[in-house]
Amino acid sequence: MSLRTVLTFGTFDVLHIGHVNILERARALGDRLVVGVSSDALNLVKKGRLPIYSEADRLSMIAALRCVDEVFVEASLQLKGDYLRRHGAAMLVMGDDWAGRFDDFSSICEVVYLPRTPSISTSEIIEVIRRVL
Ligand code: CTP
Repeated sequence: MSLRTVLTFGTFDVLHIGHVNILERARALGDRLVVGVSSDALNLVKKGRLPIYSEADRLSMIAALRCVDEVFVEASLQLKGDYLRRHGAAMLVMGDDWAGRFDDFSSICEVVYLPRTPSISTSEIIEVIRRVL
């Protein structure tokens, strides 16, 4: 029987409990978890700033988590379908801040949105640190 691969995407900058929670919950929905970590260049386009942690460090930290089986660099938003096919994904998991935005990929695999962990985000952490400095 083939393994059921779950795939998710994200920046995962300044790693926090919301990231760990979604990755652990995503992994529990299948047999292996593959994570597309967005490149520094893609973040500049997507969020208007470079991440605090470099692409190489974000990849290393996500790869080090027990629940993660494989990581790759997400270089382009347009390639999401290709990434899903290339990794043989049975399911795409995203936080519900993205609810509805990935429904088109249901022609490739199951699409599941999981509730975000409340009251934490990379942007909020950066804001808090800015205020105390
Ligand atoms: N996520 C989550 N709960 C949180 C924060 C993020 O479940 N409290 C999920 C997002 O929904 C996404 C993944 O973690 O599926 C990666 O999100 P990312 O954008 O890297 O993290 P954020 O903390 O949301 O970053 P930012 O504040 O820069 O938008």
